[in-house]
Amino acid sequence: MEFDLTSRPRRLRADGVRGLLRETTVSASDLVAPVFVDATTDERVPIPSMPGHERVPVEEAVPRVREVMETGVEAVMLFGIPDSKDEVGSRAWAEDGVVQRATRRITGETDAYVITDVCFCEYTDHGHCGVLAADAREGWERLGGEERHGSDAHSVDSRMTVANDPTLSNLARTAVSHASAGADMVAPSSMTDGMVGAVRSGLDEAGFEDVPVMSYAAKFGSAFYGPFRDAADGAPAFGDRRHYQMDPANGREAMREVRLDVEQGADVLLVKPALAYLDVVRRVREAFDHPVAAYNVSGEYAMVHAAAEKGWLDLESAAYESLLSIKRAGADLIVTYFAEDVADRL
Ligand code: PBG
Repeated sequence: MEFDLTSRPRRLRADGVRGLLRETTVSASDLVAPVFVDATTDERVPIPSMPGHERVPVEEAVPRVREVMETGVEAVMLFGIPDSKDEVGSRAWAEDGVVQRATRRITGETDAYVITDVCFCEYTDHGHCGVLAADAREGWERLGGEERHGSDAHSVDSRMTVANDPTLSNLARTAVSHASAGADMVAPSSMTDGMVGAVRSGLDEAGFEDVPVMSYAAKFGSAFYGPFRDAADGAPAFGDRRHYQMDPANGREAMREVRLDVEQGADVLLVKPALAYLDVVRRVREAFDHPVAAYNVSGEYAMVHAAAEKGWLDLESAAYESLLSIKRAGADLIVTYFAEDVADRL
């Protein structure tokens, strides 16, 4: 033999020693379970594209969170489906809004750590993540203000859809209303420039300087959000989100986005989606000492389920391997629809 086989990694792959050498683990305390609270229903509604997940009415929010906690998962991320939508998404910051009511109950009656999503796509009649720019609004209204995809939508597609700065104060007041309802942490996800600074100063001015901000620092304009948009009824009625969410091709730009959020006071840095962006998770981990979160999104969940349903993948091991990979890349915590199932088996 030309080479020396003194190094044999296989020596360390015996059953008895594997556990001792394992570099990465997943535990229930690393996981955050998304919970959908829906003001338009009085019963639990299963989400077809996300098996095992439901939209629950406010009355069921506490029981739903108790189910999550029984698996050992201690944190939830709340998403709301409001009773009505309008031009600016004002139900997002209403004191009697769906997330506010659910948060009050959950924090009053359970020990769950409640993180709230701060965004407007579920709350605006046009489905975009903020206040529409005047010309986009005009273009959309010219089309009848209805759901438009395909060729008709192009006349507004090419414009900047969301007005950045007018959205900032709405983000701040939404975050403050969540904190007033008892939210433990807020998570702005709208990819508005300056959102972390606006939310941080809003919280500080309202006396919530102890409420941390988990920023969706690098959120990509991804095809993997499809099932969520059905679940939360937050698909844009026209156009897409490419004017504010990041181009999936850009890793360096992600670092720049993250750095801006750090400068504005983000406490936790979130990368989204997770599996298709593990390089970004790793780069953020290496460049910053902040806790890093990754969002294992609806499409990443749905595709494992769909393959498992066909008998092409083993659901449990593919789910566990997904989460393990996200941790190995450098995430400290993972927002995932697999939270309960994986935690249950740990
Ligand atoms: C926006 C938001 C989205 C998700 C979470 N927050 C969707 C989007 O940008 O369309 C997606 C989460 C998922 O796919 O699991 N408020």
